[in-house]
Amino acid sequence: MRLLVIDHPLVAHKLTALRDAGTDSPTFRRLADELVTLLAYEATRDVRVEPHPITTPVAPTVGVRLTSPKPIVVPILRAGLGMLDGMVRLLPTAEVGFLGLIRDESTLQATTYANRLPDDLSGRQCYVLDPMLATGGTLVASINYLLERGADDVTAICLLAAPEGVEVLREAFDGAAHVTVVTAAVDEHLNSSGYIVPGLGDAGDRLYGVV
Ligand code: URA
Repeated sequence: MRLLVIDHPLVAHKLTALRDAGTDSPTFRRLADELVTLLAYEATRDVRVEPHPITTPVAPTVGVRLTSPKPIVVPILRAGLGMLDGMVRLLPTAEVGFLGLIRDESTLQATTYANRLPDDLSGRQCYVLDPMLATGGTLVASINYLLERGADDVTAICLLAAPEGVEVLREAFDGAAHVTVVTAAVDEHLNSSGYIVPGLGDAGDRLYGVV
């Protein structure tokens, strides 16, 4: 598993505003959207392209275009939806699938309750959107779900990560060069309620309110 922590002043600036408890929901949504686009720029560094001949007003040349099948973007419900617009702004021709997972609080196992994805993901590059890599359980289950369907390259984009969650992913995908996590920061630790510290609170609630 590869971990990319994006070290950029604009990323740090937007993340600081997201963390601030005084940032209201509309501003939080806008900042999350902008931050995802910045993270997505790095996360798509290895997106597959093929040569594409064109003619400019001056001369013929050969550029590139995304290969088919196109990449697939998979927001994890519910908070991952707040990252979708920022991602597809950069990859407008990507397909979008959806995955909903719920954790059984007694077994701590994450199981899928919603799935709108092709059964066959052979040869697909997948970009999973989940704002908070906390315990890692949901992300491990989501990535396994995609790999079992044939995805050969999975990149998870998280606004923030906890060291505990990063370790869980490292163990689950030890030596898997085709699994990458891209994040704006790895914070200090998880508290006893499962929140990332200092973190930004409950990402879903801050995006959509407490429902
Ligand atoms: N999920 C969140 O929304 N926030 C955290 O800090 C941890 C998990």
